[in-house]
Amino acid sequence: MRFRSLGRLVFAALMACATPSIAQAPQASGATPPISREAAGARADALIARMTLEEKAGQISQQFVFGNAAPFETKVRDGSVGSLLFLRDPVVINRLQRVAVEESRLGIPLLFGFDVVHGLRTIFPVPLAMAATWDPELVEQSQAVAAREARASGIHWTFAPMLDLTRDPRWGRIVEGPGEDPWLASVLAAAQVRGFQGEAVGTPGRVIAGPKHFIGYGASEGGRDYDSAYVSDVQLHNLYVPPFAAAIEAGAGNVMSAYMELNDLPAVANRPLLDDLLRGELGFEGFVVSDANAVRSLLPQGLVATAADAAIRSLEAGNDMEMSLGNGAYGQLAAAVREGRLDEQTLDQSVRRVLIAKIQMGLFEQPYVDAGQTEAILSDPEHRRLARTAAGRSLVLLENRGSLLPLDRTAYGRVAVIGPMADSAIDTLGPWSFGEKLDETVTLYQGVRAELGGLATVETAPGVQPRRGTRSMFAAFRAPPAAWSADETVQQFDRALDLARTSDLIVLAIGEDFYMSGEQASRASLALAGEQQRLIDAVTDLGKPVVLVLINGRPLDIRRAITQVPAILEAWHPGTEGGAAVADVLFGDVNPGGRLPITWPKDVGQIPIYYSHNATKDPTGAASRYWDLDSAPLYPFGYGLSYTTFAYSELTVDRATIAPGQSIVVSVVVTNTGDRAGDDTAQLYIRQRTGSSTRPVRELKGFQRVALAVGESRKLTFTLGEKELRYWSAGARDWIVDPAAFDVWVGSDSTAQLATQFETIRPQ
Ligand code: BGC
Repeated sequence: MRFRSLGRLVFAALMACATPSIAQAPQASGATPPISREAAGARADALIARMTLEEKAGQISQQFVFGNAAPFETKVRDGSVGSLLFLRDPVVINRLQRVAVEESRLGIPLLFGFDVVHGLRTIFPVPLAMAATWDPELVEQSQAVAAREARASGIHWTFAPMLDLTRDPRWGRIVEGPGEDPWLASVLAAAQVRGFQGEAVGTPGRVIAGPKHFIGYGASEGGRDYDSAYVSDVQLHNLYVPPFAAAIEAGAGNVMSAYMELNDLPAVANRPLLDDLLRGELGFEGFVVSDANAVRSLLPQGLVATAADAAIRSLEAGNDMEMSLGNGAYGQLAAAVREGRLDEQTLDQSVRRVLIAKIQMGLFEQPYVDAGQTEAILSDPEHRRLARTAAGRSLVLLENRGSLLPLDRTAYGRVAVIGPMADSAIDTLGPWSFGEKLDETVTLYQGVRAELGGLATVETAPGVQPRRGTRSMFAAFRAPPAAWSADETVQQFDRALDLARTSDLIVLAIGEDFYMSGEQASRASLALAGEQQRLIDAVTDLGKPVVLVLINGRPLDIRRAITQVPAILEAWHPGTEGGAAVADVLFGDVNPGGRLPITWPKDVGQIPIYYSHNATKDPTGAASRYWDLDSAPLYPFGYGLSYTTFAYSELTVDRATIAPGQSIVVSVVVTNTGDRAGDDTAQLYIRQRTGSSTRPVRELKGFQRVALAVGESRKLTFTLGEKELRYWSAGARDWIVDPAAFDVWVGSDSTAQLATQFETIRPQ
């Protein structure tokens, strides 16, 4: 109860103080109320009628700005660029905007985009961690804070949420997304769009949400970033589409097309995807942007031979705007129209979509940001408080043998926080962090020290220095620390071990650094990188109490560590307040309630592994498909321990059969049977026993995170109707609700045992 209401209180306080400042600073927030699409469209048409072909091509050209922005002024002035990305200094943004508004021929304002993925200055846990909260309200609040900071910096549009489901933790970008499950991902997709964007494009203090990457990127073969994806109709509709459908239903104003080829057609030039599926089936009305340089990438991908062809093919497929690193292919569109190779109406249609977004954002009325307000908003302490709540709610307790956790504050005179992630601010934040102030970040060492105050001596040492084998693309923004020499490597290891030897408690912070997940960060193995296992071996050999805190962006192979360490907490990359939030959990101020949004494999060879597989002809042998390793996961989807225990009872349905158009209410009672208040996430799974196609052994169709006091019972209800029961059937080649018998389970994870049944019937 306490933690849930704490989050609510913090957000209520935040919005209460946010509103007046937003009202006082209209420039910082774009205070014009949302304009209807029709009205915006009429204004856009009037502008288009005055535009030259070059201005039209420029309007749908977006360019990265790294470093000095001054050279871009010429392009802005002559209208050959309509949007810029990667700027977050409000003064620079205003300067460029002034050139667009006052010095370009038509005075069309620029749209500024940025990757505000999990916060700007206040960094929230990485998206995979936010998915582990199973808390859409919190997810919405967090992205509203991210939007507030972005808008106050002059940013109008975020390239987020990232909605690529994946069942392959080798893929580095698993960290940016919602995990493996389409239902959980869809709920969180809608929450993120509401958080970023508010009610509609143009909501004051918010930014345009750009769900990405459309679509199937998480299926890249072998988990290798950018590799081809081959996705069946069944997987596309049942797995990859639902989160995007939810984001679009929530009103997302933009969608980013993906880099990779889907079934041999690059996503940026894939008309069946962008036109038929996205605009047709899903009803998306906003504008589509390419991924970085993806239009020009059609050349190396082998689809076209010239940049002009790349531009024409992408635009005709429905990709409105090109994101480029410079020398964009869309610059050739004017000539393509003149040469009769492109219909001007196709060009106009994309220009119109982009102009509508600018009009709806109120940029023609309020093009500038109030730079005088920016710092106050970026440093709002309420943002930090929400980040701490969010991090606390994302932590997943994986092991707690002998109830070592929560730790007794008074039991240990000397505490060592050891490991490469123990005192590293940037690794606490994780990938896709750009606008933070590193010295504001609370590392695990700092969090534990603050928590213990004067009660214990707390010291830290990294011990080892795991490094990735190839250079990270993010090394260009942030140079990685210099590699230790051979001597230093020995000294650092010895120093950490000496510290462990003289301590009464060791908190080991192991995992992956900032550079090890995210884009271009795929792995062939899930082993602990570098010498981290050797450090665990040496520290646990001392026979002292050891807690392992994982700071990482994907499931890792921790089979050996499990046998060595009694307590393991998955902390992900927990963000600005990460170390404080982990300390809250270690010492019992917060009872961990995060649940895995992914199935955790034992071994890389089990991938792909996910809970919602089909039964096959040999269901009982499902856990022994390999002769050299069992095929069960290390931890199931939805798993996570608590410092208390929960029991489920009285699972009932309000009717035994349902006809089309009807729904069924499932009730269950959850009780806190332990001796501490805590949260559980009640998860509802169904199985359709027969049908026009075979169906998974289980599918998540509802969840509720609830806070329960000691001994408290709560009756929960879930509704199952067409939305929950329909699926895209390979047999029917359409969306369908089959008449069939269904099993329903409700419990703490995807292995829940408490079950009941119902049937769907055809009308008489
Ligand atoms: C990534 C996108 C990102 C874009 C802009 C690309 O490399 O794939 O997710 O939004 O860069 O930074």
